[in-house]
Amino acid sequence: MELNLAVLPGDGIGPDVVAEGLRVLQAVCKRYGHTAHLTYRKVGGASIDEFGEPLPAEVLEMCRQQDAVFFGAVGGPKWDDPRSKLDPQQGILGLRRGLDLFANLRPVKVYAMLIDSSPVKPEVLQGTDLVIVRELTGGLYFGRPRRRWTTSRGRRAVDTMRYTEQEIRRLLKVGFDLARTRRRKLCCVDKHNVLETSRLWFEIAEEVAQEYPEVQLEHLLVDNFAMSLIRRPSTFDVVVTENTFGDILTDEAAVLAGSLGMMPSASLGTKKTRKGTFGLYEPIHGSAPDIAGQNKANPIATILSAAMMLRYSFGLEREAQAVEGAILQALTEGYRTADIFQPGTRLVSTTQMGEAIANYT
Ligand code: IPM
Ligand code: MG
Repeated sequence: MELNLAVLPGDGIGPDVVAEGLRVLQAVCKRYGHTAHLTYRKVGGASIDEFGEPLPAEVLEMCRQQDAVFFGAVGGPKWDDPRSKLDPQQGILGLRRGLDLFANLRPVKVYAMLIDSSPVKPEVLQGTDLVIVRELTGGLYFGRPRRRWTTSRGRRAVDTMRYTEQEIRRLLKVGFDLARTRRRKLCCVDKHNVLETSRLWFEIAEEVAQEYPEVQLEHLLVDNFAMSLIRRPSTFDVVVTENTFGDILTDEAAVLAGSLGMMPSASLGTKKTRKGTFGLYEPIHGSAPDIAGQNKANPIATILSAAMMLRYSFGLEREAQAVEGAILQALTEGYRTADIFQPGTRLVSTTQMGEAIANYT
């Protein structure tokens, strides 16, 4: 099969981890007789430096022509000036919105051999296997009005949380469909005791649930869920929530997995490819400028994202499992990057981890 991919390594550790994701992808392609066609572009800060904008129109257009986008991370102190109009984050936000990738799947799996890398008790972590489905193109991130101004009584700023029925319904359907293929439990996380948008989420969840009688629906307030996620993580299966809540909760969930460096993601819309759904695949960690270029970052989140890409955009389930199996084997053999290192295991660099996993595919 021909795999047409846009490759956007971005900033910081983005290029380090994307290189390893591609190393593993190429190994799997070679083994199973596929060919990957890679089109590289700069994005985020790297693109601001070269082209004066974080996401040139040509890049977005090129991405539209592919089956999937393989993304690293954007941002760094160099472009952090809050007064600057040029924001590297617009690189990723513009892609999500421009490609209409409204459903962000963030699986949280606890590997038995990493159980001690988490500060949460092993008996609490045992059996944790959940997916947070985060709404990705609405809410506070994109709502208008959004501005900052000065009045005679000081500075003011506004962001807007706005959701339409259609946006909520399509996201919930992704969650219910996924729950149907898993343990048939769906938890809708919102703040319906306070927010009007959340009341709409609650209501639409109840309506959509009628179409999925086999799925058990639970509602939790976001503050309560934040606590329950650490107290009883193994009781959750699929969790759906709006954009900002999902951003915050998935970083929290990374604590269960042992490290942000273990958390992949798939961002999907409705556009179909020949064998699946068009999507963007990225680790949820950011650009980690403090360790950029030091060959230290954990590439597993990105490699797991490549597995999700094989599964969702190319329908290559066997190949996806080969990648996941290879990660499991590397961990079983004791390979650990610094973020998940424990005494008695083998401390390796980004490239060594990528090579080990590529060899096991
Ligand atoms: C994430 C990140 C992004 C977000 C940033 C980089 C804009 O934190 O993917 O979780 O807030 O969505
Ligand atoms: Mg985040």
